[in-house]
Amino acid sequence: MRVIYPGSFDPFTNGHLDIVERTLEFAETIIIAVLKNSSKKNLFSPEERIELIKEVLKKYGKRVEVDSFSGLLVEYCKKNQTNVVIRGLRAVSDFDYEHAIYLMNKKLFSEFETIFLMSRSEHSFVSSTIVKEVASLGGNVSDQVPEAVQKRLKMIYP
Ligand code: PNS
Repeated sequence: MRVIYPGSFDPFTNGHLDIVERTLEFAETIIIAVLKNSSKKNLFSPEERIELIKEVLKKYGKRVEVDSFSGLLVEYCKKNQTNVVIRGLRAVSDFDYEHAIYLMNKKLFSEFETIFLMSRSEHSFVSSTIVKEVASLGGNVSDQVPEAVQKRLKMIYP
């Protein structure tokens, strides 16, 4: 199975890493699709986010592709000849939003499916937004992000 894991990944966290590693248990190939042109205010450019994710996941070789996309996710799925998307669910608070985007995507592309993986408890509170805030205030995020991301955050917030 070839699946797409879409997201902002600003930056990629240990929660994201866990979802990727668990997906590789049942999928042959995973395409990590970084959303470009997001309305969110991002710290890292799409190119920087891709570079960091590639560095973190280089040990998986060709089984992990890292790309960016803009426009509709369902169109990106069709272009890549897959109908399966992976999303992580941390807590009930994620459910409403994920349910709404799933239903919208399904309406746009009837074969569309999302596989939801529940985050491990140690990652259930990790979010890119919180990581950025703590790092910007000089806090330690070494348990929440891969080493490459931590180093990059340290360059921005010494
Ligand atoms: O990491 P995020 O920000 O929660 O990821 C959200 C993402 C990228 C999955 C979602 O915003 C998305 O798919 N955007 C692409 C535009 C689109 O297809 N919108 C229709 C469904 S909401």
